[in-house]
Amino acid sequence: MSFVRLPGLIDVHVHLREPGATHKEDWDSGTAAALAGGFTLVLAMPNTQPPITDEATFQEALSLAAQKARCDYAQYVGAGPDNAKSLPSLAKWAAGLKMYLDQTYGPLRLDDMRIWMDHVENWPKESPIVAHAEGRTLAAMILMAELFDRPVHIAHVSKAEEILLIRKAKEKGIAVTCEVCPHHLFLSEEDALLIGEGRSEVRPRLNSREDQRCLWENLEVIDCFATDHAPHTLSEKDGPNPPPGFPGLETILPLLLSAVHQGKLSLEDVILRLYTNPKKIFHLPDQPDTWVEVDTDQEWVIQGRELYSRCAWTPFEGRRVKGRVQRVVLRGQTAYEAGRVFAWPGFGQSIREIGLS
Ligand code: DOR
Ligand code: ZN
Repeated sequence: MSFVRLPGLIDVHVHLREPGATHKEDWDSGTAAALAGGFTLVLAMPNTQPPITDEATFQEALSLAAQKARCDYAQYVGAGPDNAKSLPSLAKWAAGLKMYLDQTYGPLRLDDMRIWMDHVENWPKESPIVAHAEGRTLAAMILMAELFDRPVHIAHVSKAEEILLIRKAKEKGIAVTCEVCPHHLFLSEEDALLIGEGRSEVRPRLNSREDQRCLWENLEVIDCFATDHAPHTLSEKDGPNPPPGFPGLETILPLLLSAVHQGKLSLEDVILRLYTNPKKIFHLPDQPDTWVEVDTDQEWVIQGRELYSRCAWTPFEGRRVKGRVQRVVLRGQTAYEAGRVFAWPGFGQSIREIGLS
């Protein structure tokens, strides 16, 4: 056994499905999964049912979170066709603004670049903007960061051309940051056959081996690792119209620790991208008396049925990994230990200012 203490990890990209799709996940099961994965703080995406696009839906999500979350959290609001002027009044309480600019799960996609500009111009500069922007859409968002002189964070970068473009933009001093997901680092389209057709649906899609290699080669361009934890049930994934998305909260750290054993990155690289940079980019506060204890030598096999996530499956089924979360302490409280979650629903706190006036 070899114990290492890490800071409480931060996932800036999770889908907790509540309100509206609690058969997939809710604030309770999703934050239990977070703690089991070593996360003490999660930022929740707004493509719920209904989507979080105004004060009423935002209030509803925050009230559910206050009752049910087991770890700390903040909620994003979603850019819509007609809320660019009204949303900024919520910025103080929000994780940030999420802009869906390419096709994915839910109804929030925006096509008209005039609407993109409205949002980028109006959203307060101190609050993050996260964009689902692939390929040329990503290039357009980098241009907007420059035009409106504000930071933009690009979600789930998956392709060689994308990471290389971000590298160039950073070299020019453009305020762009990015995250990469574990499924784009540890799976490729070649794994889709094994995972199954419906189950391997995800947006952005699983990439080529070449893209995957390029992400690893440009590790220093990657600011954050984020799971894009996107649970859907197995019957949905195996059904006629499989929704895109993978659960990821409970598997990212063991996958990364296994890669540390293989010499592909260092433990410091992991801490930088799952704690230091997320905290800085998303202006997140300290969580006092908070840490994660990991047994870096424990070998185990990932199994969907053992997960806390309500969806209870994983694209990494059967994968042997080395490194396991032993204990999570959140604000002085043992929140998770040896496979059991001890933090209760409601223990989690909003990390933005609490309560709207
Ligand atoms: O595969 C995905 N699923 N990608 C996304 O961007 C959204 C997510 C979801 O909410 O299911
Ligand atoms: Zn997402």
